[in-house]
Amino acid sequence: MREPTLRMATSADLDAIRCLIAMSVRGLQHEYSEGQREQALASVFTPDTQLIADGTYYILEAPDGALTACGGWSWRRTLYGGDHHHASRDDARLNAETDAAKIRAFFVHPQWGRRGLGTRLLQACERAAWDAGFRRCEMGATLSGVPLYERHGYRRVAEILVDLPGGERLPVVRMEKVLARAPAMR
Ligand SMILES: CC(C)(COP(=O)(O)OP(=O)(O)OC[C@H]1O[C@@H](n2cnc3c(N)ncnc32)[C@H](O)[C@@H]1OP(=O)(O)O)[C@@H](O)C(=O)NCCC(=O)NCCS
Repeated sequence: MREPTLRMATSADLDAIRCLIAMSVRGLQHEYSEGQREQALASVFTPDTQLIADGTYYILEAPDGALTACGGWSWRRTLYGGDHHHASRDDARLNAETDAAKIRAFFVHPQWGRRGLGTRLLQACERAAWDAGFRRCEMGATLSGVPLYERHGYRRVAEILVDLPGGERLPVVRMEKVLARAPAMR
């Protein structure tokens, strides 16, 4: 089967991205309870349209046009959270010389899990951040995302408990990596 193609997401992809996020969260986030997942889908896991407007959000598209994965990076301060998660948003611009670029909102379709798509997105994001002058990257990783990021050299820095609208709390791990050289891309 031909590999999915990487391209920049546009606002025309938003409905498909929403569907992909819901399938990914319900199908792959076994580390959280159903209550945590559903409350998070209404807040922290909504799409971040600022990333699309900035041209820093990617999708991996199958040959038949279906979305298999999405994810991005940012030169803004927001560490995690979509449009509907106001508590975590800070659109201020980062300083590439002193700050870490943010790796943002990775979601893989359950039928495409463990086939290297998360890795492809991460490499594309690190490369774009490097080209923009950043030498460190960080993210607020879900418990499901931690093994992927550890595999690629990120280390745990702190645990964050995200308050969800229905009263649940979502543990998330702040993780960081120094980019020693220009990241390779598959
Ligand atoms: C986390 C996620 C993005 C990983 O995507 P993926 O395409 O399956 O990751 P890859 O195939 O590139 O994995 C690369 C390596 O990371 C590690 N890894 C990834 N997912 C793993 C898992 N669930 N358990 C253990 N190791 C894992 C493995 O070392 C893997 O290599 P291997 O498959 O050869 O053993 C995906 O599971 C997902 O979308 N989860 C739900 C949404 C979510 O929580 N996203 C993270 C937001 S921070």
